[in-house]
Amino acid sequence: MWSLWVTAAALVGPVVGLGARIECDAVDGDVYSFSHRYLNGTDFSFDQYQGKVSLAGVSSCLQVGLNALAETYAGTDLVILGFPCNQFNLQEPSSTETEILQGIKHVRPGGGFVPQFDLLEKVEVNGNNQNDIWKWMTTNCGFTQDRIEGGIEYDSLNVHDVRWNFEKFLFGRDGKLFVRYSHLQTPEGISDDIDYLLAQ
Ligand SMILES: *[C@@H]1O[C@H](CO)[C@@H](O)[C@H](O)[C@H]1NC(C)=O
Repeated sequence: MWSLWVTAAALVGPVVGLGARIECDAVDGDVYSFSHRYLNGTDFSFDQYQGKVSLAGVSSCLQVGLNALAETYAGTDLVILGFPCNQFNLQEPSSTETEILQGIKHVRPGGGFVPQFDLLEKVEVNGNNQNDIWKWMTTNCGFTQDRIEGGIEYDSLNVHDVRWNFEKFLFGRDGKLFVRYSHLQTPEGISDDIDYLLAQ
């Protein structure tokens, strides 16, 4: 797995951070064939964001950084999507829109926090009930570190698994997977890649 880190660092194009950024394989298909539901229950399809640049992340307690990105890129073609997940140390126990929004506002991160990006219905990103979008993203983008942080709440470990909350995937305007970021990559550190894709 160390060779993966070295390879990622050596790839041409924008390189952000150290060891936290993995370029995705070129694969058939794109994210536009996937659908889900927004946290409020309304149908969601990636297809509605054709031609945009999208960033999808596991959202339990990652909201502060994503809000910073949402503010920086307000009015651009960047779409930011957060998927609540309770598979890492049970950090997102709520399921309903009201409970999740209340938890974000008062507990994690708290302080009256209101997300400036779209939240989707809660998913399982790893394991036997892995969401289809996450299965496609993870299997086509290597993995970000050799170990899983701990406190995992699922069966059926896979080498491609999401390692922790905050892990994110970035897509180009063509809906193709571009880069996978570990939880160690700050959202602010992703800006070089976003700028690169927005300029395409
Ligand atoms: C549900 O949430 C989405 C994304 O935040 C929003 O675009 C949509 O208008 C909402 N639908 C309703 C019925 O509130």
